[in-house]
Amino acid sequence: MHVGYVAHALLLVLILGTANSVDAAVVETRRSSSSCQPFESSFLASDLSRYDDTSFRVVSPPGSVVTSSRGLELYLEKPRGLVHTKDGVNDVVAEGATVNSTFTMLYGKVTIEITAPTVPGVVTAAVMISDDIDHDEIDVELLGGDPSHWQSNIFMTSPHDQQPLWGVFGEIEDYTKRGTVDETHRYTVDWNANRIVWSVDETEMRTLRREDTRINGTLHYPSHPARIQLGIWDASNPAGTSEWAKGPIDWTSAPHRMSAAFKSLKIECPY
Ligand SMILES: *[C@@H]1O[C@H](CO)[C@@H](O)[C@H](O)[C@H]1NC(C)=O
Ligand SMILES: *[C@@H]1O[C@H](CO)[C@@H](O)[C@H](O)[C@H]1NC(C)=O
Repeated sequence: MHVGYVAHALLLVLILGTANSVDAAVVETRRSSSSCQPFESSFLASDLSRYDDTSFRVVSPPGSVVTSSRGLELYLEKPRGLVHTKDGVNDVVAEGATVNSTFTMLYGKVTIEITAPTVPGVVTAAVMISDDIDHDEIDVELLGGDPSHWQSNIFMTSPHDQQPLWGVFGEIEDYTKRGTVDETHRYTVDWNANRIVWSVDETEMRTLRREDTRINGTLHYPSHPARIQLGIWDASNPAGTSEWAKGPIDWTSAPHRMSAAFKSLKIECPY
């Protein structure tokens, strides 16, 4: 995450081919609802005009996100200079790319079409994350190192936790038939006050009930307004993350520029 990085309006990026800075506060006020608003985009320039053009913004460096016939393309590029690999980690990680929604939603059904690279150590993610101090997270993660599965996860901290709960709620999911992360699949997170259902290509794969998130008497169920965050990142460091992602990235064989494509995004509001 590039805290303090200037916000960029996606539409400006598209039209001008360059990222102009905008006042994040202005963008924020355009759409500040904390509940669910229906939304649909295929991220093509011609399509964006039908929607609020400030619904999403690029928060990574200019050039890290483009629109193409593949949709919204997020790039991960090899870091400049030498990358040393030792003890299962790289000493330098690539910057990656991140797009944030400027709106938040509390409950709703989000469906995203994603195509991800199959390079070990690369993670492509569609995340719903709250600005709240608890940083509730609901995740769909595609690991280049495990291309025939995808992962569902939630994360939330509670003041009562004696240790962080990374990985505790993570689960490895199948595709309906044989499938791989580099094919385009539709991932759905259907989130209400009582349960989260993850689906792929309209087939339910996992249901996590509110009650399932109780640890040592405390619930860890995401229940704060969340932003949609799309990203591709280099999981080559630290060691635990790299191990999970089957990294680190081997830059001697990996393409020096990889991309994840988000072809469409739809929000439905049944709750
Ligand atoms: C993007 O969203 C995340 C999660 O809410 C937030 O922490 C981050 O500050 C946002 N970045 C920008 C530049 O708005
Ligand atoms: C739950 O309780 C056990 C035993 O006291 C403790 O070891 C563990 O760290 C606790 N878990 C969390 C997330 O606080």
